Amino acid sequence: MEETRRRTLHGRRRGKKLRVGQQSLLDTLLPRLALALPAEPHKIDLAKLFGGRLPPDGVWLEIGFGAGEHLVWQAEQHPDVGLIGCEPYLNGVAKCLAHIERTGVGNVRLFTDDARLVMAALPDRSLGRAFVLFPDPWPKTRHHKRRFVQRDTLDRLADLMVPGAELRLATDDPSYLPWMIEHACTHPAFDWLAEGPADWRGRPADWPGTRYEKKKLAGTPTFLRLRRR
Ligand SMILES: C[S@@+](CC[C@H](N)C(=O)[O-])C[C@H]1O[C@@H](n2cnc3c(N)ncnc32)[C@H](O)[C@@H]1O
Repeated sequence: MEETRRRTLHGRRRGKKLRVGQQSLLDTLLPRLALALPAEPHKIDLAKLFGGRLPPDGVWLEIGFGAGEHLVWQAEQHPDVGLIGCEPYLNGVAKCLAHIERTGVGNVRLFTDDARLVMAALPDRSLGRAFVLFPDPWPKTRHHKRRFVQRDTLDRLADLMVPGAELRLATDDPSYLPWMIEHACTHPAFDWLAEGPADWRGRPADWPGTRYEKKKLAGTPTFLRLRRR
């Protein structure tokens, strides 16, 4: 498992020193919400993860939630959905925990490592929605293989998502956009839900802005919605 993590994770784990309150959230709140991977070949028991029953409106996955503002917003809006957020950057996890504490949502579970480990351990056909919002762009050609959106991650998401489930992608990187279109929008398991430019230039109302998006680092954000066939 450790070997898998070394091969797949390309982000940083820590940034500046955590404040005392942030460290305290990591020490006390995180253990109550943390998703622990089962021993192989077992799959994650989603009813157990969400307190003994499957969330009535299904389970959603956010990959690379950053500071968690989108994840926690969705959890507040959809209390009968169980949300699993994956983020290896601990400073972001600490910020997300602060949002969880502030809002009091009880339907979020966190995995503080590479999302691909969770994707391997989730049961097939278990997700009603998945989000990959502003993944690290890796703009240099020799780094494209590090991009999260790849054929193999999309194949795995296709296995995990129920028919009709929505996959939401976003990027503001001018070279990641055509890559996403090439890999995701033409993937045989997904239909791209866009009829015209307004559909990818405008953020849907039930899609709050993320911290990264607000920084406007690279360019104009694009929002892609795809449906599992
Ligand atoms: C550019 S940031 C965007 C964060 C957030 N989605 C936003 O829009 O503010 C990309 C995030 O993806 C996380 N990340 C990178 N590789 C990941 C992986 N394999 N699994 C889970 N998260 C990952 C990084 O740690 C980083 O926080």
